[in-house]
Amino acid sequence: KKDIFINNLMKNMTIEEKIGQLNLISPPGNIQTGAAVSSDAENYIRQGKLGAVLNMTGLSRIKETQEIAVTKSRLGIPLIFGLDVIHGYKTGFPIPLALSASWKPELIQQAAAISAKEATADGITWTYSPMADIGRDPRWGRVAEGAGEDPFLASRITEAFVKGYQGNDLSANNTLLACVKHFALYGASEAGRDYNTVDMSHHRMYNDYFPPYKAAIDAGVATVMTSFNDINGVPSTANKWLLTDVLRKQWGFQGFVVTDFTAIKELIAHGLGNNQQVAARALKAGTDMDMVGEDYLNTLKNSLQEGKISEEDINKACRRILEMKYNLGLFEDPYRYIDEKRSKSEILTSEHRQVARKVAAQTFVLMKNERQTLPLKKSDKIAFIGPLLDDKANMPGTWAVAVDYKESVTVQSALKEFPESKNYWFARGANLTENLSLEKNAYVEFTKDNPRQSPEKLLKEAIDTATKADKIVLVLGEASEMTGESASRTDIRFPENQLLLLKELKKLGKPLVVVLFTGRPLDLSEMVDLPDAILNVWFPGTEAGNAIKDVLFGAVNPSGKLTMTFPRSLGQVPIYYNHKNTGRPLEFTDYRFEKYKSNYLDERNDPLFPFGFGLSYTKFEYGTMNLSKIQLKGNENLKASIVITNSGNYDGEETVQLYIRDKVASITRPVKELKGFKTVFLKKGESQTVSFDINPELLKFYNEDLNFDWEEGEFDIMIGTNSDNLTTKTVLWQK
Ligand code: IFM
Repeated sequence: KKDIFINNLMKNMTIEEKIGQLNLISPPGNIQTGAAVSSDAENYIRQGKLGAVLNMTGLSRIKETQEIAVTKSRLGIPLIFGLDVIHGYKTGFPIPLALSASWKPELIQQAAAISAKEATADGITWTYSPMADIGRDPRWGRVAEGAGEDPFLASRITEAFVKGYQGNDLSANNTLLACVKHFALYGASEAGRDYNTVDMSHHRMYNDYFPPYKAAIDAGVATVMTSFNDINGVPSTANKWLLTDVLRKQWGFQGFVVTDFTAIKELIAHGLGNNQQVAARALKAGTDMDMVGEDYLNTLKNSLQEGKISEEDINKACRRILEMKYNLGLFEDPYRYIDEKRSKSEILTSEHRQVARKVAAQTFVLMKNERQTLPLKKSDKIAFIGPLLDDKANMPGTWAVAVDYKESVTVQSALKEFPESKNYWFARGANLTENLSLEKNAYVEFTKDNPRQSPEKLLKEAIDTATKADKIVLVLGEASEMTGESASRTDIRFPENQLLLLKELKKLGKPLVVVLFTGRPLDLSEMVDLPDAILNVWFPGTEAGNAIKDVLFGAVNPSGKLTMTFPRSLGQVPIYYNHKNTGRPLEFTDYRFEKYKSNYLDERNDPLFPFGFGLSYTKFEYGTMNLSKIQLKGNENLKASIVITNSGNYDGEETVQLYIRDKVASITRPVKELKGFKTVFLKKGESQTVSFDINPELLKFYNEDLNFDWEEGEFDIMIGTNSDNLTTKTVLWQK
């Protein structure tokens, strides 16, 4: 039915109208997510020169625009309305890196489904999420938008996002098109500098960087966004091998490919030719839709006339876009997603806020808790101090374009609801940064409600405030826009002026807790010894303050675990747990310097906090690992089990992690790879057996010829609480 409908429609389309479907613009007067906007949206729509609109918000505006497309253009083809709904529409969820720290795909799917419900209630039919770029370099600001450094975990998370957004039926009025991005390898930009070059071996691509994108394709993602970077000399947007051979032929992708913002035009700066040449090359490579640059619109007809592209090239791209419009149900009812009643009743509801609060609390990572400083008692006399204590604008985190920060709950406002808060004192303590260049470029001044004050005055107030209390809680860290797009940094140390505040308050000798806001792994070496407890809350979203309150006072026991390694210093970067062994690994496990070994003269090899790390208010003890066999053949199944006991004083959740090392293979293999994880809830005193089923599927990797298979030999099976604290047994697995 769909084919017949689209065939008939395309028979009536002029070449200009077909090219028009490949055009996506960001009209003026809306949200801006790049440097350019297009000017003439209405005329384009009337002339059939537009397939989709980006960044438009507001139901009435979207309705008017759709009406023009449907009633004023020759063929009345409806538009798709796209927006970056990255971690929430109006109800802000934690940033994606935080969401990944929950290690709970089902929770992420629920958050994505709520985001889809809210966005579609406001007319949005396409989100540019999930970001599946593996992030192993914390200098790169966009690690905040991804699921961390590990391909296995990031794959599970990416597919959860896709399922949450798209549901089982794209034509339902509460689901939308997802877009996996940025295809491909954007996270591997050299030196962590945004938009930079990528040069990478194929076996690293296939084994480490491709899996999350592929997981999205396997989950049925509707669209794919190209990345800005080049890959081994060919920018993604013009990369036929990537967009056609890998994406469509090897992985069977059926949807359409859109560029990132002006990425076709940027091929000129990459050095691939003029507008007409680069547009023709992008189309031939497999790029279907041009975001903002309008080079398809302006040049494809000429290229067709000159024989540089064929009508079939245009038809293919046009058909893919029309198919998605059909799947959304737009041909049946172009106003399916335009419903004022839904817009009024389904957005930022108290139910959604409750979920956001619950989700946020599950993303927090307890990084330190000496002498059980946390949880606090409500009756404690506490000084709450810090630049992020009452700063609504910095609660949502980066890429929260539709989230109204004024709706954020801050820690200070959440605490005021406790009757005990008469025993609490509040002070700002410091500005977010004294680095004025950073402040200006990272929009820290965005905190209009919180204008900069004299640092001396703030410090004095902080000391006076802390003196009254028995315990001190500092709410510190980075501003939202210190991570995200175009927010790469060469210095990822904890902000200097806030370190000063911490040092001064430490002198008072009172129990000290740091609530840490960050969108990337920071170098915490200079501050880590000062507080008694550190609770990393990332950027928690609209319900930030309530979720933080829940965890600080023990209503929720923290269970998040890191999905990116926290380095000891920037010099260790890139640092990730699943590295190769090298020919000269260290012999000693205490990481002391060894001459002629792969290490540093001035730094240990191990990180400050490893992948998978996160504490709880309770204590989990791991028993001895039990393997069903130690010698296996062919497709046999291996069961690895371990008893976990909650031997502490609180009920709590633990994410048990399974890693495997392939000890001998035809190519070098990582020292360990995550291959499974399970979260268990244990009441205090309770024990439970956690088991993993392992079969040869989990042992497969892409070899030198890029064949995906497993090789026989010895495998280390490891289970534990984080990537650095594991119990190991070895099996022999033969073909
Ligand atoms: O989706 C984004 C992308 O991640 C970065 N450039 C702009 C796009 C659309 O807003």
